[in-house]
Amino acid sequence: MELKEAIRKRQSIRDYDDKPVPEEKLKSVLEAARLAPSANNRQPWRFVVVKERKRRQELAQAANGQTFISEAPIVIAAVATNVEHIMTCGVPSYAVDLAIAVDHITLAAVDEELGTCWIGAFSQQRVREILGIPAKYRVVTLLPLGFPKREKEIKVRKALEEIVCYETFKE
Ligand SMILES: Cc1cc2nc3c(=O)[nH]c(=O)nc-3n(C[C@H](O)[C@H](O)[C@H](O)COP(=O)(O)O)c2cc1C
Repeated sequence: MELKEAIRKRQSIRDYDDKPVPEEKLKSVLEAARLAPSANNRQPWRFVVVKERKRRQELAQAANGQTFISEAPIVIAAVATNVEHIMTCGVPSYAVDLAIAVDHITLAAVDEELGTCWIGAFSQQRVREILGIPAKYRVVTLLPLGFPKREKEIKVRKALEEIVCYETFKE
């Protein structure tokens, strides 16, 4: 699939088929994360692949009871393993690094006819407990992964003129 088509097609999926995800499709999306760029090429990440139903249900509970998360056959927890590093520009690198890697996953998933949904509403502490993640690390997102049951068509986005300015910043 062409990249532009994957970008256009990607959408948050909140309704999953319980059909298992073939191992080669899972490998393909994880490989997309592996190839992502990161500050100083530190690759400060671990991707915890959760397939056990009970554990997925616990994760959904820890995510404000968003039950659709556990309906996907896989949930990937994207974990930052270096949360200290601040770039010269003053921005912590881990959130940027992880966002890029997870975005690679979401786009590669589209190419594999799979759906994902970035989850940011979850209890950091509860998810760490469920997955045995040391307190020094940070879970950046939970990402359900599975075959979409339903897709919607519309993308609600600001117009380009609202988000782009030229030469200098304009409010
Ligand atoms: C950082 C981040 C956190 C998000 N957290 C949640 C969440 O907890 N639950 C949820 O259903 N969707 C969540 N979303 C999905 C957004 O609602 C969704 O990306 C946005 O509405 C645009 O829709 P689209 O992804 O279908 O294009 C999150 C997305 C991002 C990027």
